[in-house]
Amino acid sequence: MSDIRVLALVGSLRAESVNRKILDAVLADAPAGVAIEIAEGLEHLPFYNEDIDTDDVAPAVRKFRQEVAEADRILFVLPEYNGTMPAVLNNAIDWASRPFGEGAIKGKAVAVVGAAGGQYGGTWAHQDTRRSAKVAGANVIEDIELSHAFAWGTDPAEDAEVVAQFAAAVAKLAAYEGIA
Ligand SMILES: Cc1cc2nc3c(=O)[nH]c(=O)nc-3n(C[C@H](O)[C@H](O)[C@H](O)COP(=O)(O)O)c2cc1C
Repeated sequence: MSDIRVLALVGSLRAESVNRKILDAVLADAPAGVAIEIAEGLEHLPFYNEDIDTDDVAPAVRKFRQEVAEADRILFVLPEYNGTMPAVLNNAIDWASRPFGEGAIKGKAVAVVGAAGGQYGGTWAHQDTRRSAKVAGANVIEDIELSHAFAWGTDPAEDAEVVAQFAAAVAKLAAYEGIA
């Protein structure tokens, strides 16, 4: 049987991103039967604009939509910015949601996890991402919830217990077989 292809969309672009580092740690020890790929270059997607969403759409958008379409599952890994999801992910969801009713994200099994420095671990951002992905047509797995709150100066990617929690969420996403 071929591997379940999980496309990971990371909501932080910075080199030292805690979320990216946690994902990298999960990737280094991916659950058996799961192939995780990171959607690189989300920062190169133009801001969504219906006027440029034409047959001649930007190459970055074409590539991104193809990656989403080819994935079996979508994993969002993000911090919280000012009480919601980082704009780069909001924009990516908008591109994946169109053409209306036929967007690449339609029907995809989606899970949303992440880590943030605030005391709630980015819960609002994660809730908003679930709602947005659902409106965009995704099949959001609501009972995969992981909003890890970390203390400043600590590195959750170095904490094997935290990495194991994220790996378990990925394994649950990969094992998802639809609504009973
Ligand atoms: C613009 C901005 C807004 C932020 N807003 C929040 C917030 O609303 N809630 C929160 O828990 N952390 C917030 N933070 C702190 C982030 O959780 C923290 O910087 C985290 O490390 C970012 O994730 P990263 O390490 O993957 O880049 C914010 C950080 C930035 C840069």
